[in-house]
Amino acid sequence: MKVSTSILSCKNYEKVVNMLSFTDTDYIHLDFIDNTYVKGTKIPYRKLKKITSHKRFDVHLMTKKVKKWIKKFALLNCEYITFHVEVTKDIEKYIDLIHSFNIKAGLAISPDTDINLLEPYLDKVDLILVMSVYPGYGGQEFIPETKKRVKEVKKLIKNKNILLSVDGGINDQTYSKVKDSVDMVVSGSYITSSKDYEDKIKSLK
Ligand code: DX5
Ligand code: ZN
Repeated sequence: MKVSTSILSCKNYEKVVNMLSFTDTDYIHLDFIDNTYVKGTKIPYRKLKKITSHKRFDVHLMTKKVKKWIKKFALLNCEYITFHVEVTKDIEKYIDLIHSFNIKAGLAISPDTDINLLEPYLDKVDLILVMSVYPGYGGQEFIPETKKRVKEVKKLIKNKNILLSVDGGINDQTYSKVKDSVDMVVSGSYITSSKDYEDKIKSLK
């Protein structure tokens, strides 16, 4: 299982990212909110762009201004840039834009959105991010229906080369509900509120 650690709930990003570089986290999950799609915790781009790490970023854009922010985040050390399927009709165009920077493209889906909306893009997209909380804040509780949703998305993906990821409320308990379906878990407060990051990361691997 891959683990991507979200720093949304942290105050001292630099210190946390530095500590994460000594762990087995696969990626650092950067959540970006500008209040155009959802309201929530905002870490401004001017702060995010200063974060340096040898771990690559797994960027989660929660914005309607997809084009603008893809272009900005593409300047950072990203493995994935993911945007929401709900925010635009120009999904193929933005997947192509992300690919033009040699970065893998992800599509995120909020808890109430019909998963069949993902279907037309399955031949293009590299990652699907199933939200297990409503996007906005770290530290929320895992929505139990996610267990069924990730199974359905896995079925939809079949044997296509797409990484299936889940984001929100992941800890060692909720992990067991999704581990058979997903390839990656995004976890924030469970890891970053603990004293031993590596111990928590290991429990999700
Ligand atoms: C929610 C974010 C998540 C969140 C994860 O809008 O997309 O990435 O920060 O944090 P936890 O694990 O605390 O729910
Ligand atoms: Zn996220």
